[in-house]
Amino acid sequence: MKQIESIRTALFVPGNRPDRVDKAVNTAADVVIIDLEDAVPHALKSETRPLVRQKLVEHHGHNIFVRVNGLDTEFINEDLDELVVKSLAFIIIPKIERPQHIREANRLLSEIEKKKGIPPGSISIIALIESALGVENAFRIASERTEPNRLFTVAFGAADFALDMGIEISKAGDEIAYPRARLALACRAAGIEPPLDTPFMIDLNDIVALEADAKRAKIFGFQGKLCIHPKQVEICNRIFSPTEEEIEYAAKVVQAFSQAESSGTAAIQVDGKFVDYPVVERSRRILKMAKLID
Ligand code: GLV
Ligand code: MG
Repeated sequence: MKQIESIRTALFVPGNRPDRVDKAVNTAADVVIIDLEDAVPHALKSETRPLVRQKLVEHHGHNIFVRVNGLDTEFINEDLDELVVKSLAFIIIPKIERPQHIREANRLLSEIEKKKGIPPGSISIIALIESALGVENAFRIASERTEPNRLFTVAFGAADFALDMGIEISKAGDEIAYPRARLALACRAAGIEPPLDTPFMIDLNDIVALEADAKRAKIFGFQGKLCIHPKQVEICNRIFSPTEEEIEYAAKVVQAFSQAESSGTAAIQVDGKFVDYPVVERSRRILKMAKLID
């Protein structure tokens, strides 16, 4: 399966707006997702595919993913047929509700890869979970291993989740705490990468609320956030990166602990905080992450 270091931000761009793709690749987003699903009117799907394909080729070398239409739509076969190209490494598949959907996606992708002479397993999947059933099945979905293995992680879609549940999403997001926690736990327990959080859609001008929303997702264990406007990118990149203080403290912990350990102690205090093996390991990960995004 393809690996990508860390996705703090994945910026959606409507597939029928190629000019916006060009702009999006010049933002600081770790990934750009060209959307063929809900951002594109039904009547425009066919004329959009060649535009998207062209952009994939043009921006080869950038991290560009594609969100295709759902597996049970009339569009999916043509989406895959026209958009699986050598330069595409990841697709987002919306409305994933059961592990069978991952198997079905693998079957379709394997057929297309074979047909196009692309090495099997070249395309990895990010499964968008956005319904009550999807959330309930999150662990089973995240645990689904296909041959070749394709599931990189899952993402949460709060708009469709709210539609399914008949609820309103608030700025404070209390109503999505449970699905967020479920998804983060499911990914961890299944041994896949941490999930990507829903875009913040409530108020595109409220950067303070966006920041709080991104922080909540980070606290639950999400690696990053889907973004729907370029102005969301910078703030989310910042929230999903370790802070200067975190990095400094982590370095201090690692250094103090290795000294302590060599003199026979495995539990110390650093700046009044208790430090033992799990804390040191966490500090090492923070330093690794800091290096990755440097
Ligand atoms: C994203 O697709 C969402 O439904 O929020
Ligand atoms: Mg959706």
